[in-house]
Amino acid sequence: MWRPETCRRQAQRIIPLCRNRAPWGVCQVMKVAITGATGFVGSRLVERLHSEGQEVLVFTRHPQKAKRIFPFSAYPNLDIVAYQPKQSGAWQQAIDGCDGVVNLAGTGIAEQRWSQSRKQEIIDSRKITTEKLVEAIAKANSKPSVLVSGSAIGYYGTHHTATFDETSSSGDDFLAEVCRVWESAAQPVKDVGVRLVILRIGIVLGMGGTISKMITPFKLFAGGPIGSGKQWFSWVHLDDLVGLILYSLRQAEMQGVFNATAPNPVQMGEFCQDLGATLNRPSWLPVPDFAIEILLGDGAVVVLSGQKVLPKQTQAFGFEYQYPTVKSALKNIFTSRTFGDENISN
Ligand SMILES: NC(=O)c1ccc[n+]([C@@H]2O[C@H](COP(=O)([O-])OP(=O)(O)OC[C@H]3O[C@@H](n4cnc5c(N)ncnc54)[C@H](OP(=O)(O)O)[C@@H]3O)[C@@H](O)[C@H]2O)c1
Repeated sequence: MWRPETCRRQAQRIIPLCRNRAPWGVCQVMKVAITGATGFVGSRLVERLHSEGQEVLVFTRHPQKAKRIFPFSAYPNLDIVAYQPKQSGAWQQAIDGCDGVVNLAGTGIAEQRWSQSRKQEIIDSRKITTEKLVEAIAKANSKPSVLVSGSAIGYYGTHHTATFDETSSSGDDFLAEVCRVWESAAQPVKDVGVRLVILRIGIVLGMGGTISKMITPFKLFAGGPIGSGKQWFSWVHLDDLVGLILYSLRQAEMQGVFNATAPNPVQMGEFCQDLGATLNRPSWLPVPDFAIEILLGDGAVVVLSGQKVLPKQTQAFGFEYQYPTVKSALKNIFTSRTFGDENISN
């Protein structure tokens, strides 16, 4: 029998108790394939699924990196699948028999200047990866019942006063185009009978990610507002995002687009005040745009010009947030925890 290019490291596997199709009950084990699993969001998702005893397939371009992130000692039941996301190939066969697929792969938007070639990579790393994943699902004899595919609130463009929900139309800037292309690439999975959930993700707050880049200038400049302070900051706590991904996998009636943002977006000024209070920094000297641009490159647009996004559909489908307010999220992230090498609360 053909074996996918996986690194099966475990001595024993968890035997699925009942490999049913969704919805999965508490006692049911599901087999979930994840692209972008080694990233900020993906690695937390893997941790959560693994702690629940689910079967997880980590799709990665860098298996050695994945082995470091998910060491055998802590993740004995994990399968690592080496893949070339822009090419069809043997890796696609590993999708066969999975119950759900989560698609989070994409090159960072806040790592470099957006040259023409960089812009193309930002698009292609999402568009082509998603197309190849959908192709793999279509080819599978035993198809997953659901694809949860990433997108971002950049879909709506930026605006100082408008409020966006899942029914709002798309913006006309580069990030809006990236999201449209990314979402379109996932749509054909519906033609092969697979439920599609698209999550438009807000700025994810957790240990790492954007917030870790914002901390340094925030502390250097006495923790004042970033940019004008009036721009909207639609955020989500990492654990709520992971909770929503799990919810999307399990709720058989969920399909379509859902905003993965907390129900209480804030303006940047308020966010910085709460961040300052949590970090014990005064909040008065504005952080200049250039400091943020140095750290986030052209991706600084996501914090310098935001958008107010509400998770209308997400709440209508009954998802309950553990961290609905920015205060509760920041308190959870920073209080009594080490952030990098430094205890932020001190
Ligand atoms: N974090 C946020 O605030 C936020 C907000 C909105 C949307 N999102 C979106 O949500 C997804 C997950 O976010 P994240 O913060 O976890 O991202 P991340 O930490 O940058 O991780 C993304 C993962 O994608 C894979 N990847 C990187 N470059 C790639 C390329 N050129 N082609 C294919 N795969 C590539 C990598 O996995 P391997 O190296 O293992 O292949 C990486 O671990 C991303 O697509 C991001 O755009 C994130």
